[in-house]
Amino acid sequence: TPLSSSTLEQASDPSSYNGDDADVDWDNLGFSPRPTDFMYIMKCCQDGNFVQGKLSRHANIELSPFAGVLNYGQGIFEGLKANRKEDGSLLLFRPDQHAIRMKIGAERMCLPSPSIDQFIHAAKQTVIANDRWVPPPRKGSLYIRPLLFGSGPVLGVGPAAEFVFLTYASPVGNYFKQGKAPLNLYVEEDSVRAFPGGVGGVKTVSNYGPVMQALLRAKSQGFSDVLYLDSVNKKYLEEVSASNIFILKGNVISTPPTSGTILPGITRKSIIEIARDLGYQVEERAIWVNELREADEVFCTGTAVGVASVGSVTYKGRRTEFKVAENSACQALGSTLVGIQTGLIDDNKGWIFNI
Ligand code: COI
Repeated sequence: TPLSSSTLEQASDPSSYNGDDADVDWDNLGFSPRPTDFMYIMKCCQDGNFVQGKLSRHANIELSPFAGVLNYGQGIFEGLKANRKEDGSLLLFRPDQHAIRMKIGAERMCLPSPSIDQFIHAAKQTVIANDRWVPPPRKGSLYIRPLLFGSGPVLGVGPAAEFVFLTYASPVGNYFKQGKAPLNLYVEEDSVRAFPGGVGGVKTVSNYGPVMQALLRAKSQGFSDVLYLDSVNKKYLEEVSASNIFILKGNVISTPPTSGTILPGITRKSIIEIARDLGYQVEERAIWVNELREADEVFCTGTAVGVASVGSVTYKGRRTEFKVAENSACQALGSTLVGIQTGLIDDNKGWIFNI
């Protein structure tokens, strides 16, 4: 089989977990691959159903060189977070929404998908098995990465016949190296991230490779990240490499609509709801890039990124700066979200799944 069963067997003894404290500097987590103890694997199938999921030691996996994901990018992923509450218990944030998004993406990519229950079970098992890697309260989160991909061999273009659903985890802190400092965004005009009819609205593995060139170019000029424009008119805001974008003007918060080219972020959707709760008017609408010049605040949202304030945006060589105050909307929204995620604020929305 493409995914070596011997690898899985060697790796499948959760009882060998010795409960040692993780050797991690919790104050300097950042966002880099830090292997934990276990991952959860399920395979599929002739009939479209995933069966026999199990925990395995976190280890390399073996794939056929013909694997669908390696040759034709038949793969999607999710990213969600678990947090440790002050009392030590573990909380998962909206795993049901991630499961639903994966199901929708799977359909677009001709992948069978785990059921909502299987997805949530995998996330919970992965967190429980990696308990010692969940950071202490306020130090960060355990980032959970479910992957779904064609593992079976193909040569002509077409879907694989075997699939893997694999959930691994890694402790994380700030996504950006600069920590919580406001982002300096560069508006990209040479390349686009997505186009109508494409897969910009799906979390495919193939959405992220193509943004790296512009990202490196912007970083080499001192920017934190790239802000993309729509591919048709080249004048409406789309999203940042790994996050959604919001602007505030007066009491109105606006964000581009998720009409196919924009990733429907779970953090995006949560922030829209929190903003309305806090009394802001929220609009999902096309935002002309020149509106940035008049904005009171700009911020980005994403599971990995969190809620990140933007200090400047550079478009056509002109840099527009935004004030980032202690009492900003971005701060209020971010701390409410983190409060709910970490159990400091009561969840009356059904967003928290206790583990
Ligand atoms: C996330 O925010 O969880 C993502 O999946 C973005 C990722 C590309 C870092």
